[in-house]
Amino acid sequence: MVARIISCVSGKGGVGKTTFVSNLGIASSEFGHKTLVLDANLTTPNLGFHLGVPLYPQTVHNLIRGEGNIYDAMYIHPTKLKVIPAGLSIYDLKNTDPSKLKGVVDQLREEDHDLIIIDGAAGLGSESLATIEAADEIIIITNPELPSVTDALKTIKIAEEMKKPVIGVVVNRVRKMKSELSKYDIESILGAPVISMINEDKKMADCIAAKTPMISYDKDHDASIEIKKIAAELTDTFWSPPKKDLIFVLKRIFK
Ligand SMILES: Nc1ncnc2c1ncn2[C@@H]1O[C@H](COP(=O)(O)OP(=O)(O)O)[C@@H](O)[C@H]1O
Ligand SMILES: [Mg+2]
Repeated sequence: MVARIISCVSGKGGVGKTTFVSNLGIASSEFGHKTLVLDANLTTPNLGFHLGVPLYPQTVHNLIRGEGNIYDAMYIHPTKLKVIPAGLSIYDLKNTDPSKLKGVVDQLREEDHDLIIIDGAAGLGSESLATIEAADEIIIITNPELPSVTDALKTIKIAEEMKKPVIGVVVNRVRKMKSELSKYDIESILGAPVISMINEDKKMADCIAAKTPMISYDKDHDASIEIKKIAAELTDTFWSPPKKDLIFVLKRIFK
């Protein structure tokens, strides 16, 4: 099976890429697909924190430097999701050439995976460009505010120049405020479909503290259901969201 290789990128930082990647990875893995998530945020990595990966001896930084093999860098999460974390040391920060990332991803391409999701860095520097270059398709993450949408637009333009198709845009931290851009506004500005809207949620902070993405923390939470929907679409999985009937509501109240 040839893996779908998708990079999640944003332009602006802090919009929710790592949150999205960790949840999407678990959702796909729990649907039974061989899924791997890779931290390509080489300067300020934190995918490992989101997923509760312990300090790991072998990381993407080692792979980029040609040290060790890909299996040594794979942490197996309890959900069977494979995680390649990034190194946290200053040595790693200073001694890694992002342009070699594609070579690492091409090695993973040879392995038996259904879906590989790459967590990118913010900005449009060499690190982000390398993340776009390494993938076959792109998902853009943004918040519903103009600065993050304009940065997303730059990212889309660059992805287009690099001939990497943009699957769509995930709008995260939606507060339903009048001041926010609507789905229609965002689609008009970006010229790409919005594939998901995820609400602002205080519980996200608890997930980080618990090192457990929302999808495992609370499987029937709105954000979990939203991300499962995308995971099902990306992996051609038949899945229907739970009906929000009285039983569902009561179960959530008394859980
Ligand atoms: N939907 C959300 N509601 C509330 N907080 C969120 C949401 N999504 C992400 N966050 C928080 O925003 C911060 C940045 O998220 P992160 O996924 O690390 O962004 P990025 O990877 O784009 O830098 C984290 O503290 C995370 O908990
Ligand atoms: Mg991140």
